[in-house]
Amino acid sequence: MAATILQGKEVAQSIRAELANEVAELNKQGIVPGLTVVIVGDDPASHSYVRGKAKGCEEVGISSEIIMKDADITEEELLIIIQQLNENPNVNGILVQLPLPAHISEHAVIEAIAPEKDVDGFHPISIGNMVLGNETMLPCTPHGIIELIKRTGTSMAGKHAVVIGRSNIVGKPVSLLLQQENATVTMCHSRTQNLEDYTQKADILVVATGRAHMIGKEHVKPGAVVIDVGVNRIETGKLVGDVKFDEVKEVASFLTPVPGGVGPMTITMLLKNTVVAAKKQAKQ
Ligand code: GUN
Repeated sequence: MAATILQGKEVAQSIRAELANEVAELNKQGIVPGLTVVIVGDDPASHSYVRGKAKGCEEVGISSEIIMKDADITEEELLIIIQQLNENPNVNGILVQLPLPAHISEHAVIEAIAPEKDVDGFHPISIGNMVLGNETMLPCTPHGIIELIKRTGTSMAGKHAVVIGRSNIVGKPVSLLLQQENATVTMCHSRTQNLEDYTQKADILVVATGRAHMIGKEHVKPGAVVIDVGVNRIETGKLVGDVKFDEVKEVASFLTPVPGGVGPMTITMLLKNTVVAAKKQAKQ
């Protein structure tokens, strides 16, 4: 039976509509949530992501600013900008688009962001709280993935979830969140041997490898929920996922498309974190 396609775009739209109402209510109290995105260098993919974030802000009524800096900015100069944003009461959320040029320490920059403004959920304090299961700003892509799985009506409790990829942005955090939903989680990565032995046993398969079309129907258990986090541009210029969509949709019960699956959810979770941050900061 062919899979139901999990249209992240539609789910994201409905969450954005709820957020727009929430922002309108905040406006009545004189609160305008504000997000500042800092982007360094001229990587076209990063600029395209940042434009998507600004457009999302506009849609729900969040005030947004993009600070663009040349790739030769020093780490010290960037840290000064972060400090100014930390001190600016009109800025509720700060996001520094990654990757940064090699001469700048991503770790130092992320650590400089005030944890209460860390809408990416990348600060060590945010990550530590997530590991402990404390209330905190969750990283956007993993959070979006969990929301998408919930919308399938599939209970994660007791299910076998297999995550391929161990990045700090997706693989590691999503494995923790799946565990907190009471799934039994297996982590696979580029060094895993006999990958199919694991993936064929997955009720939920999250693929975040950054390798176009690496997962085919031979990897997938019939009826599995398959979440494709990959965004790869192939020679033809087309954007494709890490999963062979056409063949996996014949065996999975649910499958996310690329584009239009996980991507729109990521931005929506960022908008949600910004609204939550604005509300918390208004109470201080
Ligand atoms: N680069 C790719 N994904 C992300 C993300 O979620 N946040 C930031 N800051 N940079 C990214």
